[in-house]
Amino acid sequence: MVLYENHLPSMRDGNGDGIGDLEGLIAALDHLAELGVGGVWVGPFFRSPLLDQGFDITDHCDVEPVFGDLATFDRLVAAAHARGIRVIVDYVPNHTSDRHPWFIESRSSRTSPRRDWYVWADAAPGREVPNNWTSEAGGSVWEWDEGSGQFYLHSHLREQPDLNWRNPEVRDAMLDVLRFWLDRGADGFRIDVAHMLMKDPGLRDNPVDPHRGDNPWDIQHPDFAGQLHIHDRMHPDLHEELRRIRAVLDGYDGDRVAIGEIEGMDWDRWARYFGEHLDELHLPFAFRLIETAWEAPALAAVLGELDDALPEGAWPILALGNHDRRRLATRLGRPQARVAAMLLLTARGTPTILYGDELGLVDQDVPVERRRDAFARATGGVSRDPTRTPMPWNAGPNSGFSPADARDLWLPVCVEYQTLNVEAQRADPRSSLTLYRRLLELRRASAALTAGDWERHAASDDHVLVYARTAGAERCVVALNLTPRARTVDLGETGDLLLSTLLDRDGRAAGPVIELRADEGVLLRTGGAG
Ligand code: NOJ
Ligand code: CA
Repeated sequence: MVLYENHLPSMRDGNGDGIGDLEGLIAALDHLAELGVGGVWVGPFFRSPLLDQGFDITDHCDVEPVFGDLATFDRLVAAAHARGIRVIVDYVPNHTSDRHPWFIESRSSRTSPRRDWYVWADAAPGREVPNNWTSEAGGSVWEWDEGSGQFYLHSHLREQPDLNWRNPEVRDAMLDVLRFWLDRGADGFRIDVAHMLMKDPGLRDNPVDPHRGDNPWDIQHPDFAGQLHIHDRMHPDLHEELRRIRAVLDGYDGDRVAIGEIEGMDWDRWARYFGEHLDELHLPFAFRLIETAWEAPALAAVLGELDDALPEGAWPILALGNHDRRRLATRLGRPQARVAAMLLLTARGTPTILYGDELGLVDQDVPVERRRDAFARATGGVSRDPTRTPMPWNAGPNSGFSPADARDLWLPVCVEYQTLNVEAQRADPRSSLTLYRRLLELRRASAALTAGDWERHAASDDHVLVYARTAGAERCVVALNLTPRARTVDLGETGDLLLSTLLDRDGRAAGPVIELRADEGVLLRTGGAG
């Protein structure tokens, strides 16, 4: 399956208020079906003040009216299933909005029956706060609550208090949330910050990390990036909770999938999220790939490490971008973004495509007064809005994202929408969209590409990344020129050239020596019929 990351407020506006919604996503399903994806990760649509794009929830079991209602969700599931597309729902277990009734009750007094549903603490002796933990949104994770005279923990915005999963009532209430959406036909979940469910009960200080401060691939506040977050996340006790989550999914019919957002820099730790008996996450994201320098030796090493670290019987999920990062085409430039598409869709794992990446969408300037992402509010905070601008559907008013008369779009449309949009690229045989569609088509038709083994090819060098995928007699070889200069590779084998990222020399015999043009990737079948 190929997964498509939708971003609900930015995908398609179904009712003309300028904000993408579930009705709009239903209208977008034909595009997804034509692209050939097997699943859509919807993005949060629950009741929310939308300070963190819906990851700040006031009711996990209802739809934020701006996005639709439960009946629209049901229609989305039916319409997606009718097209063979699975619906993946966000599960946000770590925190709620500070306006959630649970938190309002929890903060009402120290003796509130729900006090312990969140993490409350006093300042450490001789210090101003309980410990040194820093928030992803900048500053301390601790917010003083004047009314009840204690600090509460918020790993993100101060409006996003962390739930206390050590309290069994919290856990049970949150497991019920899974059942609610599974009963409505959800095919699985993308679990938000799955590595954060449990914290060190002693609230020990995190050590300082001198190396993480300048990670150019992630949009993280420097306050956050400066620590090794070993006590506020990745606590060993969280694995038991992941097993409980998995057990709920396993109790349902069909293949209900648990996909997890986790911290992914260390392969051993990443592998642990599958569970010792493959009884935790089906698919923990391998973010290390996003954070690797776009150079052949580094990428070859990381893909090899991933393969080595993967437990027997487990399967990886891959992404080269998401709603929290700079867009792929912004990071690499459009010519290399096409090469990246070939990598993502031919490497070993379930690829995840961020909406708009199939068009080569780049980050857009979002003027300060139009920003939505409250993470940018802290000093030094970076807005993720430039990545999250509306999907350009056509060259018409509001780029077809919203009806022509809609005012006040959620975020500004892409400046190039008159040429860069779904309709224009559908009609263009050399467009980025056509490349994605072809790649998905070839992938579906090939056992080697969907499920085969991965191996670094001997022809891989400092400039060209070469690897092979094999299943039985079928063998595919991928050669990616990661540079803006022509390169020659000697594969030592011949085959059919199934696809070039430039889409102009497919379906001919090729090899053993291949002349790659600047920023060109090619896919060959060198063995078996596929
Ligand atoms: C991770 C999500 O990807 C990000 O967008 C969000 O801000 C945080 N979790 C908090 O939910
Ligand atoms: Ca709308």
